[in-house]
Amino acid sequence: MAISDSTINEIKYRNDIESVISPYVSLKRRGKNLVGLCPFHNEKTPSFTVYPENGSFYCFGCGVGGDVFTFVKLIENLDYIDAVKLLAERSGIAIEETEYDNSLSKLKERIYEMNRETAKFFHNYLMSENGKWALDYLTGRGLKIATIKHFGLGAAPDSWDSLIEHLKAKGYSLTDMLAANVVGKSQRGSYYDRFRKRVMFPIIDVRGRVIAFSGRAMPGDTSGGKYVNTADTPVYKKSDNLFGMNFAKNNCAERIILVEGNMDVVSLHQAGFQNAVAALGTSFTPAQAKLLSRYTKEIVLTLDADEAGRKAAEKAGDILKNTGLSVKVVTVPDGKDPDEFIKKHGASRFGAVLEGAVNETEYKLLTAVADIDITSDAGKIKYISRAAEIIAASENPIERDVYIGRMCEKYGVSRTVLTGRIDEIRKANAKKTAKKEIGEIIRPKFATNAPNPEKRLNPTAAAAEEGVIAVLFSHPDFFSEAYSKLKPEQMVTSLNSRIYGKMCEVLSEGKTLDISDFSEILADSQMSYLVSVINGDSARGNPLIVLKDCISVILTEKDRKKPSDIKNMDVEDWAKNLKKMIDKKRGKRNG
Ligand code: UTP
Ligand code: MN
Repeated sequence: MAISDSTINEIKYRNDIESVISPYVSLKRRGKNLVGLCPFHNEKTPSFTVYPENGSFYCFGCGVGGDVFTFVKLIENLDYIDAVKLLAERSGIAIEETEYDNSLSKLKERIYEMNRETAKFFHNYLMSENGKWALDYLTGRGLKIATIKHFGLGAAPDSWDSLIEHLKAKGYSLTDMLAANVVGKSQRGSYYDRFRKRVMFPIIDVRGRVIAFSGRAMPGDTSGGKYVNTADTPVYKKSDNLFGMNFAKNNCAERIILVEGNMDVVSLHQAGFQNAVAALGTSFTPAQAKLLSRYTKEIVLTLDADEAGRKAAEKAGDILKNTGLSVKVVTVPDGKDPDEFIKKHGASRFGAVLEGAVNETEYKLLTAVADIDITSDAGKIKYISRAAEIIAASENPIERDVYIGRMCEKYGVSRTVLTGRIDEIRKANAKKTAKKEIGEIIRPKFATNAPNPEKRLNPTAAAAEEGVIAVLFSHPDFFSEAYSKLKPEQMVTSLNSRIYGKMCEVLSEGKTLDISDFSEILADSQMSYLVSVINGDSARGNPLIVLKDCISVILTEKDRKKPSDIKNMDVEDWAKNLKKMIDKKRGKRNG
């Protein structure tokens, strides 16, 4: 299945790690390396490090690491082959069809094609005489033909097999249709169209591919739910995508409007707000926030005025803020959704509503006052206490000052008292966050051991093995020295043995060692481990001396403790052994 090494090398050579990562992460130079805020977890101080020297990256916060291919794989949510293909495309390198035969990759391509064919089928049906019922419905809701065509809207016939027959005629197999989730399979084993008698919204990703469908039932038709959506497939993860993002991405320099419904998106785009997207019926996710943050700086949340809408907004607001986006909130008047509002009052009135979007602190203060009866003293006190918490949550001192001033003026509280209370809350919150952050720093330390579980039982050997790997990576000229004394199978932990084996294979052929030689044979977490090893401290000191010392430690450890003993131990023995080790440690500490 492999793409030839020379092609991989060529791709890697034309995609240096700095230029691949910098569109996603703002990097600052630190010595010979670069650092930035990790795109894979939320952090305030940069622990994401890029090593141009060996083409790798590693995050000391969350323990993720790898080469250019790993990075693209993780950030674009691709599998290895597709990450390689993406970078190849980006740098104009052609990969021969015969160079890879990855069935998943091929399946994905077929699903993309099939989805496009399906979208065409639904659209043609909508525009045909038979689809009049659906077209009447959409135009009846105020959509223009141009809008319907722009979004490629369609309709699914009232039939159990029209799409199946159509796709069959186009040469697609039932297995592929099932994988694309456009057909279902009954318990008796018969196949059927999943979308029937519905208006269809194709979901298109930022690269213009049809990845899924969302089908809305006709009003009054209660069979099968209001919406039927494509479940997750090899090309689609609902929680990672947004409806309308394919258009919004070109119109969102200022902001993106986040709404609830597909219909809202279509309506808003028709009314000139081409920066609207919807969350595809999931509760808003961090992956969606990350997608948004790649294209814009500010999000305007439009939401239902009810309690559920407010809760959802608060959650979405937190997720968005964690991604570094600024968040504004707007409530559409009369409890309407944007689609209904625009139909009733027009686009310019909706524009005015957007202008009135408030920041989160103000929004929370407004909703809190609506919940509490402030005509009584007790109510007033309750509201001011709640307001103190809301203001304390703002990280902007000027903003805090403005709202403190407003509260004091409006409710006659003394400034000293309110400021004092807010300071107290902030101190308590800071303590909580500090605790949480310490937790986050400690956790990844464990995580980095996880890829090499044998390290726990063989800490000394594993550390020495890491030393050998690290030295050889930066000083491949010591290969014969190393190999003459230490063969891969002599390493104690199997992961390191596998890594060292691959290194020996590459070096003995006289090739240059490259971190990318490993991205195909190692899992993501193992790749992170390897990067942390080669960029870590294990090789500090005179490299030749370190190498020799490490090898002799490994050989001693190997003799002392045969890994086969451990493998053959049953669980009970293993537990006894572990207990012995712990007792020994305790004894040492206490004695
Ligand atoms: P809404 O019920 O507000 O739908 O759900 P809507 O799109 O505004 O539809 P109209 O205006 O009544 O025609 C909001 C979103 O939640 C998801 C859909 O993505 C919908 O657009 N949803 C809703 C589902 O996935 N399944 C459902 O059964 C209902
Ligand atoms: Mn609606």
